[in-house]
Amino acid sequence: RRVGILISGRGSNMDALIAATMRPDYPARIVTVLSDRADAAGLQRAQSLDIAAVAVPRADFSSKADHEAALLDRLAEARVDFVCLAGFMRILSADFVRRWEGRMINIHPSLLPAFKGLDTHHRALAAGTRVHGASVHFVTAEMDEGPVIAQAAVPVLNDDTPETLGARVLSAEHQLYPQALSLLAEGHVRMSGDGLATASAPT
Ligand code: GRF
Repeated sequence: RRVGILISGRGSNMDALIAATMRPDYPARIVTVLSDRADAAGLQRAQSLDIAAVAVPRADFSSKADHEAALLDRLAEARVDFVCLAGFMRILSADFVRRWEGRMINIHPSLLPAFKGLDTHHRALAAGTRVHGASVHFVTAEMDEGPVIAQAAVPVLNDDTPETLGARVLSAEHQLYPQALSLLAEGHVRMSGDGLATASAPT
């Protein structure tokens, strides 16, 4: 299976996906990385690993539709089967999302449906939650609303700051995202017509 990753910044989840997919028994490989920001650190990192990685900056296009059309063209050129959003900070249009329905996933740093949106570690601490984590979900038109494929939980410790908690969640993300992509690429999970993720046990 051929996978494209969309990033906007650091790209540590991208890095974890690339590393996992380079293992010979992994059911997918990363064929392209696209960033909406030319200064995304992840772009250089991907290039250093010999993955085709290009910036497609929003500022180069006069409209959101033209920008998304350029992203779609790149994904088509790379003959991508699945798209992974990995710290991609731009909200995709309903039209873009519909084209990739059931084939595009995102990682979010909370145990959804708790703490959608930004600043999740700060909000988890402020709410006094004792367990926090990360979720991989199918992307639907509403942000962070799509059916959940897999989750990883971490404890919240008494002396946690948003930074220490965030670092613990990020390590869990790096394990979780490759596992979730592999479920998808193997056909063990799919988005059903009623907007749920249905899973069959890996054999
Ligand atoms: C991660 O915390 C991810 O869950 C969120 O954005 C962050 C991206 O980090 N969607 P990185 O670019 O993968 O290092």
